[in-house]
Amino acid sequence: MSEADDACELAALTTTLKRHLERRQRAGIRFLAKGEPAEAKPVSVIVEDLPGGTVEDRFADTKASLQANTLEELRAAIGDCQRCKLCSGRTNIVFGVGNPRAKLMFVGEGPGRDEDLQGEPFVGRAGQLLTDIITKGMGIKREDVYICNVVKCRPPENRNPEPDEVAACEPFLTRQIDLVRPEIIVGLGKFAVQTLLQSSVPISKLRGNWHSYHGIKLMPTFHPAYLLRNPADKKLVWQDIKKVIKELSGENT
Ligand code: URA
Repeated sequence: MSEADDACELAALTTTLKRHLERRQRAGIRFLAKGEPAEAKPVSVIVEDLPGGTVEDRFADTKASLQANTLEELRAAIGDCQRCKLCSGRTNIVFGVGNPRAKLMFVGEGPGRDEDLQGEPFVGRAGQLLTDIITKGMGIKREDVYICNVVKCRPPENRNPEPDEVAACEPFLTRQIDLVRPEIIVGLGKFAVQTLLQSSVPISKLRGNWHSYHGIKLMPTFHPAYLLRNPADKKLVWQDIKKVIKELSGENT
């Protein structure tokens, strides 16, 4: 091959690669999967072929998880998840912890540094505050409730999860809630509550009032990390938690 042929081939390859990356970007993928192409192929092919489909269509291999009959099966279906770009920065998938038959479920935003390292939700400073709310405030053992997050992998620098990341993880949360089927969900913070309620109303307006998540009572309240920065608002969270205690004790029925 002449030098001119080489240059032509290189230009063609560059154009192909550029188009491929642009297609991925349009499909909401802003990362390159780690590992061998053979491992990464199933997800990227599905996503690229069906960029406008529903979450279920776009993540056909997620469908198995929607048929999981236990939390263990659901966790197994998630596998070594590569469905969104958060996989590239995580140490552990933080699935959830607690009583699989819990009456009370807490849903947060996503793992932070400590959670990522330990593989368990709410174990850092904000987690300690949540544990105090549960144990000291409500008089319940932490292992008797169920705790999980909207996204199961740590967003870099603890930034908010992005829409494509939530879309990739949401089916797992939906199934997780379905399997635990708690009586009450406490939504922790703007992000979790707005995701669960598909709402853009500010958390300051949503908190303290009962809502419904597919027939399950949902109490939105402030996130414990917010309380660490704004301790004066702990009294508002206590008001919300007292409503939850009352509901759990059957006083409202
Ligand atoms: N913040 C969250 O939303 N979830 C955690 O697990 C930890 C901190």
